[in-house]
Amino acid sequence: MSHAELRGQSGGAPAKASGLEGVVVADTRLSHVDGERGELIIAGSPAEELALAEGARFEQLAARLLALGTGEPVPNLGERLAAARGAAFARIASLRGALALPDAMDSLLASTAQGNAGADAISTLGALPVYVAAAARLRSGQPLIASNAGLGHAQDFLSMLGLPAHTARARALDAYWITVSDHGLNASTFTARVVASTGADVMPCVVAALGALKGPLHGGAPGPVLDMLDATLQVEPRVWLEAEIAAGRRIMGMGHRIYRVRDPRAFVFERALARLEHDDAHGSAVAARLAHARRVEQAAEALLSERHPDRPLRANVEFYTALLLEALGIPRDAFSAVFAIGRAAGWLAHVAEQRRTGKLIRPASRYVGALPQ
Ligand code: COA
Repeated sequence: MSHAELRGQSGGAPAKASGLEGVVVADTRLSHVDGERGELIIAGSPAEELALAEGARFEQLAARLLALGTGEPVPNLGERLAAARGAAFARIASLRGALALPDAMDSLLASTAQGNAGADAISTLGALPVYVAAAARLRSGQPLIASNAGLGHAQDFLSMLGLPAHTARARALDAYWITVSDHGLNASTFTARVVASTGADVMPCVVAALGALKGPLHGGAPGPVLDMLDATLQVEPRVWLEAEIAAGRRIMGMGHRIYRVRDPRAFVFERALARLEHDDAHGSAVAARLAHARRVEQAAEALLSERHPDRPLRANVEFYTALLLEALGIPRDAFSAVFAIGRAAGWLAHVAEQRRTGKLIRPASRYVGALPQ
């Protein structure tokens, strides 16, 4: 384009304002999000069916996603992930510096970069819960607990954290990880695909995706959601929420780029919580927290609809993530990292799919800077 053409170019909203909304950059068989109907399909099935099926395990869905991504069956994923967790625990001593970083996402990023250079998808997927649990134990000054190959992914993770890991709790975590395993071309998945499209190997794709997930607009909201639930125990929710908006802050756990109705994943987590309420010794505490969360959600929804009558802003995945992970006893500062363990199944499947079917992702920018005179 000549300088004269560059000077004269016009048309369309400034690119920076669009956030690529609605731009299709990949064909995928992995998941589909219908924001108008509030529907999430993962590997061909509705997310709630997958997550709430009797005995549903994260490993089963991860195998389906990876098979779709690679175009080949992925047998014995449960055993292979257990072996990968054992191998990751065996190298923990060499990762102490990375694991000891004070921020849980920084620590997961650094330990994955250091511990999984050159590793394949399954070794990397298996290593993540080991790093997250070890870092959480180090942060709270407790001794590390070794991975147990006889347990499933969810149960072993709870056990490595030193938390009660009976079946009801493990199934609730499985339901959580299944539900968040993939979600169209969200920011971290897009990031993973961009890196994969350059021909890079698995580790940098996952590390880059972890970086994208760290931000509060993507995966960093559930911790602040709990802070909000705590704060609104002392102050009327509406009053507290109005003060947040007046201070120029967003209400965490509300609003979504795609959904115009309530995020269907919030419903799955409510159901998983209701099961825990029934099956767990701490059930009554879960019920009270859930009732309070519903009050805050209603107040937030009412306030946001008054302020944005044309843009429905409803509870998103992070709102009830916060409650579910809290009910399992997972430390608040590890919530985003725990989300990453589940979402990594989707990232790795997208990386494989991108390599197999895509080409270098290299969009364009519009130059609005100075030109030589
Ligand atoms: N609280 C208050 N206002 C909100 C809001 C929220 N949670 N979410 C959106 N808005 C407002 C914005 O301020 C903006 O108002 P304006 O037009 O007057 O400037 C309008 O709604 C549109 O927001 P925009 O940022 O353009 O929408 P988006 O599609 O880019 O945003 C999110 C999607 C998720 C980033 C946004 O809803 C948000 O920040 N939510 C809180 C963080 C969160 O829960 N993240 C987890 C996502 S799963």
